[in-house]
Amino acid sequence: MAYKVVVLAGDGVGPEVMREGIKVLKAVEEAFGVEFDLVPYPCGGKHYLEAGEEWPDGAFESCKTSDAILLGAIGYPGATLPSGDLAGAGVVFGLRFGLDLYANVRPTKLYPGVKHKIHEGLKQVWDPEKVDFVIVRENTEGIYAPIRGILRRGGFEELAVDNKVTTRKGVERIIRFAFELSKRREGAPLDGRKRVTCVDKSNVLDGCRLFRRVFDELAEEYPEVERDYAYIDAFMQWMMRGPEAYDVVVTSNLFGDIATDLAAVLQGGMGLAASGNIGDNHGMFEPIHGSAPKYEGQDKANPMGTVLAIQMMLEWLGERKGDGSLVGASLAVEDAVKSVLKEGKRITYDLGGKAKCSQVGDALAEGVKGAAGSRG
Ligand code: IPM
Ligand code: MG
Repeated sequence: MAYKVVVLAGDGVGPEVMREGIKVLKAVEEAFGVEFDLVPYPCGGKHYLEAGEEWPDGAFESCKTSDAILLGAIGYPGATLPSGDLAGAGVVFGLRFGLDLYANVRPTKLYPGVKHKIHEGLKQVWDPEKVDFVIVRENTEGIYAPIRGILRRGGFEELAVDNKVTTRKGVERIIRFAFELSKRREGAPLDGRKRVTCVDKSNVLDGCRLFRRVFDELAEEYPEVERDYAYIDAFMQWMMRGPEAYDVVVTSNLFGDIATDLAAVLQGGMGLAASGNIGDNHGMFEPIHGSAPKYEGQDKANPMGTVLAIQMMLEWLGERKGDGSLVGASLAVEDAVKSVLKEGKRITYDLGGKAKCSQVGDALAEGVKGAAGSRG
């Protein structure tokens, strides 16, 4: 039976990195005897300018009946909706809210051979084995809840309000997700201890106080997992100074959005950062980087973020469906990324290399086929 995967390549470099991702999926099909029914839809800001819609009618319904969804990148210069929203964001939020993808899972892992982003000219500060944590970002409420507005009077914008919404249900499910994830991991690189860090601003905000209270309540159910707390501002510096102390970090929507871009610096930059938007019934996987329109069509962007998002998809789908071939394939994809990085020859400009996006895709697809023997 083929797994239905909806492919939303989107804007800018999205279609290029997605093309390489699909190349890797084809290699997985060949090497692991699994089958994907890939269902593409146009979407994004450019599509909006051309067709007057962010994505076609029926695309959301198709996502609903899929086994998984892949998204490239969204955002095109000059593509804005009459409401002022970025054209294409409706696709991202349509899926996150519409399919209740409440956990935005963003791993930060430094692979051997990768130069991270703030050491040039200096001694390397972090060893690969010291950076391996996951930020779990709440994805359906917080300040992203679409309860906002601008008051215009006499042609002037007088007032704007964004409401930060925190519900017990929303907090409970994201915190439980984080503890369950920690249970399955190997602990923090520093001491091998399973640990969940609650990142909030509970010294000021009521929603964060509720978040922390629920965190404490649920933590009682997980005596094998250590609890840890940080205010978001302090966490920003501790994460950079001592990433090895972290295992799983759980936080609200906007804090997670900001923290994960900074966290990507620890793993070699946005070109390597991947994410899964996961709910109880659906999953959507995407690189964290944007559409980078200035690089569009140059075959230059790093496809590894997309390929690592595909790795997350394979693992999630494999566990969900009880399909060991998919889990094996996810390990093979990660092995392929690791060995291409370690070899250091076929890497893109952002990592200090000269390879094209498509050459990296070729190397990764080849690597997957090579790794299949040991992972199949
Ligand atoms: C992300 C992005 C999105 C977000 C944008 C594109 C709406 O920054 O996935 O982190 O804010 O969630
Ligand atoms: Mg972001």
